[in-house]
Parts: sequence; C-alpha cells; structure tokens
Amino acid sequence: MLGLYPTWFEPGISSGWVVAFIATIHVLFSHASVGSAMLFAWLARRSVTHNRPEYITFIRRYGLFLLIFSYVLGSVTGPGIWFSATIANPRGLSALIHTFVWVWATEWVFFLIEVIGVYLLVYLAGRVNTRTYLRLTAIFALASVATLLIIVGVLSFMLWPGSPQWAATGSVMHAFFGPNTLAQVFTRIFFMLMITGVVGGIIAGAIKDPTEKSVIGKALAAVGSVGAVGGALCFMWYVRTLPETAMLIIGTRLPVHFVDMMLAATLAALVYFALTAFVPSVLKRSVAAVMTLVLLVFGIAPEEMAREMIRKPWIAGQYVYGNQLIGRDIPALGVKSDLSLVAQKGVLATHPFIPDALRRPNEQNMAEAGRVLALTLCSNCHALGKRGMRPITRFIPATATVADVQSYLAAGLYRGHTAYMPAIPLPETDRRALATYLVQAARSDNPGRLALRGTQSSASKE
Ligand code: HEC
Repeated sequence: MLGLYPTWFEPGISSGWVVAFIATIHVLFSHASVGSAMLFAWLARRSVTHNRPEYITFIRRYGLFLLIFSYVLGSVTGPGIWFSATIANPRGLSALIHTFVWVWATEWVFFLIEVIGVYLLVYLAGRVNTRTYLRLTAIFALASVATLLIIVGVLSFMLWPGSPQWAATGSVMHAFFGPNTLAQVFTRIFFMLMITGVVGGIIAGAIKDPTEKSVIGKALAAVGSVGAVGGALCFMWYVRTLPETAMLIIGTRLPVHFVDMMLAATLAALVYFALTAFVPSVLKRSVAAVMTLVLLVFGIAPEEMAREMIRKPWIAGQYVYGNQLIGRDIPALGVKSDLSLVAQKGVLATHPFIPDALRRPNEQNMAEAGRVLALTLCSNCHALGKRGMRPITRFIPATATVADVQSYLAAGLYRGHTAYMPAIPLPETDRRALATYLVQAARSDNPGRLALRGTQSSASKE
C-alpha cells in the first residue's frame, strides 16, 4: 500500500491557500519581532552614546505593543501554520520533522528567550542600570536573529537540500546549509528592518511631544531605509543563488506583476521613510497602519507565494511531491520512491483511503473514481472548480475527449514533462478514471459543485 493520508480538500480556496494565508500573516508578525529586536539593541546603545532617554521610553512602549502584535498573534498564527500544514501535507511536514527535529527544538529555546526578553525589556526599562539593560537588548536581539537563522535553514531545505550528499548521509548539516541559505538570511534581515521601520510608526505616531516624535521618527526612517535598500540588493543576490529549475519557473510561470508589486512596496516604503523623517506630521498611527498593510499585501504576500511556487513540484527536500507522493529514493532515511508502485498497481488499488467500491471502477462509478484520484493527486496544487488556485479545468479544453486526456496522462504527466509538475505514472485503469472525471469537469458549468457533491455522496456511502 501507499503511505498516503486522507486528503484535506477545501472547496473554492484549496488547502494550500489556507496555509499560505496564515503563513503570510505570520511572516509580518515574526519579521516585525526580529526587526524590532535589532532596532532595540541599536536604540538602547544610542540612548547612551547620544544621551537620549526617549529611546528607552520608546522601547518600552513599542515592546508592549509587540507583546500583542508579534508575540500573541505570532504565537497563534505560528501553530496555525503547523496545524494547517500538517493536514494539508502530512508527509511534507514529516519530512521536515524527521530531518530537523533537534534544530526546531533549538529554535523553541531561542523563542523562549525572546518571549522572556520582551517582557524584561518592557518591565525593566528605566528600572535597572544602563549596562544591564544594554545587555538585555543584546541578548534579545541575538536570540531573535538565532530563530531567523534556524527557520531560514529549514525554509531553504524545503526548496533544495543544502548539499547533494544529503540524500546519502541524511546529516542535518548537509540539509541545512544550502547555496541560498545565506542570501535568504540577509534578505530577510534587511526586510525585517524595513518592516520594523513601518510598524514602529504605529507607536511613534502617538507620541505627543514634537521633538521626541521627530527624534524617534528619524531613527525609524533611518533603520527602515537601510532595510529597504539592503533588502532589495540582497534579494537580487538571493535570486542569483536559485537553482536552474526555479529560474525556469520564475521566467515562465510566475505572474509578471509579482516583481512589480514587490518593487512598488519597497519604493512606497522608501517614500514613506523620507516623508516621516522630514515632515513629522506625516508620522501618524493611521498612516503607519496603512503602510503596514501595503507591505503585507504587496511585499510579503507575493514574496512568500513566489517562494512556494519555485519549489514546485516538490514540497520538501526535493523528494516529497506537492501531492505527497515520494518521487525519489532517499537512502539515508530509508525512504523509497512511490512511483514504481504507482506505475505497477495504480493509486486506486493501493491508497488506503479509497472506498472499496472504487478500487476496480466500472462504467457507472468511473467518473467518481477519477474524482477521488483528482482529489488525491491534483487538488493539492489545482482547484477542482473554475476559480481558486490554478483551476485544473482551465487546462482541459471543453472539446477534449476522454481519449485525448488519457493520452496526456500517459505521456506528459506520466513522466513529469515540466519543471513544475510531478511525474504521476498512472496505469491504464487509473488513467481512464481520471480522464473520465476531468472531461466531465471541463464540460460542467460548475465543476466545483461536481467535486463537492461527489465528496458528500461518497462520505455518506462510507
Ligand atoms: C505539485 C503541484 C502539482 C500537482 C500535484 C499537479 N499539478 Fe498540474 N500543474 C502544476 C503547475 C504549477 C502548473 C502550471 C500552471 C500555470 O500555468 O500556472 C500545472 C499545469 C497543469 C496542466 C497544464 C499543462 C501543463 O502541463 O503545463 C495540466 C493539464 C495539469 N497541470 C494537470 C494536472 C493533473 C491532472 C494533476 C493530477 C493528476 C496535476 N496536474 C497535479 C502543478 C501541479
């Protein structure tokens, strides 16, 4: 049998988009938090060297805001990623856990230091001697950056294992440090500073004293501008470290406006920083909040979606496909490719969660069996309705016959003919079932309902 789990099917939006939505918001919280930790260390030092106690007052206020913004909301969305990703792709997550369990445990230790650190910075501001306070900000910043380093190692493994040796050694070190790890670390560090420069404005905007407001506004603008310029430069470096297939996908499959959106968001941030530095009346809570939303929607969202896109067809480590089939042997982990079993016996016969009646489909339930195959093998990357994530019916002309689609499944899809689609070597029976369903869906006015109705009827049959 195949080691597949039941499929989480989210009609209309797709499970992948649920994960993406939670993750994108989480990136805002987590990046604001790490960026602020670096900002605090710098401000605390400057408060001594430039004799400006208002920096410490600002750290206390902003720290209190961060407690809710980054630490409460971040701690809700963080496990939200775990929960949603675990059901969207249990085998993908299992691949990460089996490789990085101790690395993640380490990250949680640093996270704990961060949480304690932010409380200490808020409650000890002005109550302990300067040296101790400076040390605390330094520890807070180092712990925060450590969480970033660790998570980026895991994220880059999802795109590409650190070194080709990893499949043979299974060593965490071979998995962790890839050609794009460092570039991604620096890109994120700089963009974190940019995000902090903007989010900090939500607090700085409320400062009553005009001189104090202007001093803080200038500091935020300086840090934010360094972040925006540095981030843009490092992003170019990062793109150059990407593997060839990722570049192919960027060139052929990524919406062109993604890059324009990210560029526009960065430019908008630079204009915002220039204005708030020189015209303090622009520094308002509302303006900073709107600017934060702009960064979320036009900067973070396309960047995270692009990162997800370029690792297709894999979800993790270049061996687990997006649809959870294992596409390659990993001797070090004792993991074997599923593809030969799929090619020999098919998915209908070997997937534990296929209803018995559909294992050997007849003319009556052929489309139903095909629908289950589409749910299992395609719905992770394709919406089955007309809208949502790259709807599958968009690629099947309404005039196509079952034989046409069957020959596509026997040729292109069988071998995985593109950089972005998995190889799905289905045998004859499975191909016929899937083609029957796909043709029906392509001709239906409302293929999403077709899938939904089927889901309910098969659930009640079981
Ligand atoms: C790992 C993700 C993934 C899975 C799983 C997947 N696809 Fe795709 N597929 C893609 C991507 C990405 C594209 C490119 C879409 C675009 O143009 O944006 C694509 C494109 C297609 C196309 C257009 C022709 C082509 O080859 O580019 C067809 C047809 C298609 N998929 C059918 C399927 C079927 C049928 C299944 C399930 C048996 C499936 N796909 C499973 C990612 C996937």
